[in-house]
Amino acid sequence: MVLSKDFLWGGALAAHQFEGGVLETSKGLSVADVMTAGAHGVPRVITDGVIEGNYYPNHVGIDFYHHYKEDIAMFADMGFKCFRTSIAWTRIFPLGDEDEPNEEGLQFYDDVFDELLKYGIEPVITLSHFEMPYHLAKEYGGFMNRKTIDFFVKFAKVCFERYKDKVKYWMTFNEINNQMNYKNDIFGWTNSGVHFGNYDNPEEAMYKCAHHTLIASALAVKAGKEINPNFKIGNMIAMVPIYPYSCRPADMVLSTQMMHDRWFFCDVQVRGHYPAYALKMFERKGFDIDITEEDKKILSEGTVDYIGFSYYMTNTVDSTAHKDVSTATDGSSEYSVENPYIKVSDWGWAIDPEGLRYALNIFYERYEKPLFIVENGFGAIDVKEADGSCHDPYRIDYLRAHIQEMKKAVEEDGVDLMGYTPWGCIDCVSFTTGEMKKRYGFIYVDRDNEGHGTLERSKKDSYDWYKKVIASHGEEL
Ligand code: BG6
Repeated sequence: MVLSKDFLWGGALAAHQFEGGVLETSKGLSVADVMTAGAHGVPRVITDGVIEGNYYPNHVGIDFYHHYKEDIAMFADMGFKCFRTSIAWTRIFPLGDEDEPNEEGLQFYDDVFDELLKYGIEPVITLSHFEMPYHLAKEYGGFMNRKTIDFFVKFAKVCFERYKDKVKYWMTFNEINNQMNYKNDIFGWTNSGVHFGNYDNPEEAMYKCAHHTLIASALAVKAGKEINPNFKIGNMIAMVPIYPYSCRPADMVLSTQMMHDRWFFCDVQVRGHYPAYALKMFERKGFDIDITEEDKKILSEGTVDYIGFSYYMTNTVDSTAHKDVSTATDGSSEYSVENPYIKVSDWGWAIDPEGLRYALNIFYERYEKPLFIVENGFGAIDVKEADGSCHDPYRIDYLRAHIQEMKKAVEEDGVDLMGYTPWGCIDCVSFTTGEMKKRYGFIYVDRDNEGHGTLERSKKDSYDWYKKVIASHGEEL
């Protein structure tokens, strides 16, 4: 088996990290719009609304809102078959609880999708990529409140109806499993609009919230298939595979148990019911999750068509270790240690191409569902030279090695893979740090951490390299 002829080569972004158009449009504030900029090891601050004097990098992003034609023309020039982005919930329902959607927001995405389709680029759309309306988080408690399920499903239905003839590939919630690290506030906030640390039992709160999000996802899948049976609706999981540090049996058992945190959401979304290890854990810890019979029916009826996932790194656990994860953004747990065989990026993310082949295999063995790598990439400090060029051989090396392993998973291991969309195909604001200098793009954007710069776009060396990769269908690496 080789990569299928309709393999979706492309790139990925998310509305809040690149669109801009926040304060001067009818868009409402999202949970991401009240996050300041941080740095490696310096957490972003979540403020109570937009507070004067703070810098919020997402408000301008890279101003795709006003540059979308130029940017999409460059994606088309690179030969993209698809482009993954998200619909900002707050452009459609600025507060989240309105009766009627906002036409200006709906029209913006019509314009973007039309522009993509003009070049034959398939939109691949995430409904919620860390962009819950701030109002729903503040006034309703985000997904801790069952009412938020209804607000989300309404938003999803409006999108499905409006774009049913333009968008075929959808995902419900981006990296729904990030909140498993309920100790780092950024994840509960961006996944679910909740500060788990404010609850007596943050872990139980996370699972309650997770349950509501899973119900919302299942209801959206069901609604979408009723609106257009040809839709392909997936989930989206942050896959950071966990290796045992040693062949000590305790490390092996620990890594298997820690992998439950990776599988939990995916198990429910793909199989339509809670896995045994989770039910046992709820029982053992005395968690009252309130899973009704009606809920069980909804979960079983809203299973996904494919599994979308991000892959950046692996993680290694040692049963004798103890680590503080309250600021960790590298998928680590309290047992995580450095892997002596793997180098890390400037932001401490392990560089492990073979881990991608491993991830594809464990996903496919477990579920036998089509897979879609919807994020992978190398965040690095790039330098734009005086002549306008930008040499990023480290990015080419990273992507080449990952594509090679991806191909082995398909060609040698028989994995059914729909496509590959490297993250941040044009430079954008980093999610975990809010920095501009953590760049992933094939396209350089002139903007810095403080918001200075012309926003001018230019090609990096990786631009022509990726163009060649797509043109040769992954043969010329
Ligand atoms: C994923 C997210 O976690 O990783 C993206 O889905 C994010 O939103 C990407 O940007 C890379 O993370 P970062 O922090 O380097 O931007």
